[in-house]
Amino acid sequence: MTCNPNDYGCGKYPELEPVLDKYADVRGSLITVLQKTQDIYGYIPVDAINHIGDRIHVKPSKIYSVATFYAQFRLEPVGKYLIMLCKGTACHVNGTDSIEEAITEFLGIKDGETTEDGFFTLNNVACLGCCSLAPAMLVRSNEGTEAYGNLTKEKTKKILNDIKGREAKEVKI
Ligand code: FES
Repeated sequence: MTCNPNDYGCGKYPELEPVLDKYADVRGSLITVLQKTQDIYGYIPVDAINHIGDRIHVKPSKIYSVATFYAQFRLEPVGKYLIMLCKGTACHVNGTDSIEEAITEFLGIKDGETTEDGFFTLNNVACLGCCSLAPAMLVRSNEGTEAYGNLTKEKTKKILNDIKGREAKEVKI
């Protein structure tokens, strides 16, 4: 495949090529392609937008506006651990705001931010579907996704501290 001179992402995203091959000529596949891009990289790199546009014949400006319109898409890299804190009704009633406070106190980040060491990103999300455990959060990393429920401020800080401890051990080994 020869690249368009405006396609800054050409050759930079080999993992994405099978997705682009599959959806190149499928009309209305933009959201699916963006979802799969995010599944692969954890976010949608801006350079990849040009490349996706080139391959699926959609203007980069349109892709950019779709990617920024939907809250599910991220244009910035996420930390190694993505904390998805539920802000749904049941969690709200059961004190998710104080859990958010605990996370901010412990990690120094707010919704949408990543710690300077690149380990943690906090993302407030809608109902996670485990309301009986409210307030709840998920922590996603390469090792999988862990669900934590019936959170208190103390419990939340302990969970985060345990993750930090695991990381510190891995660095020493
Ligand atoms: S409202 Fe939080 S899990 Fe449903």
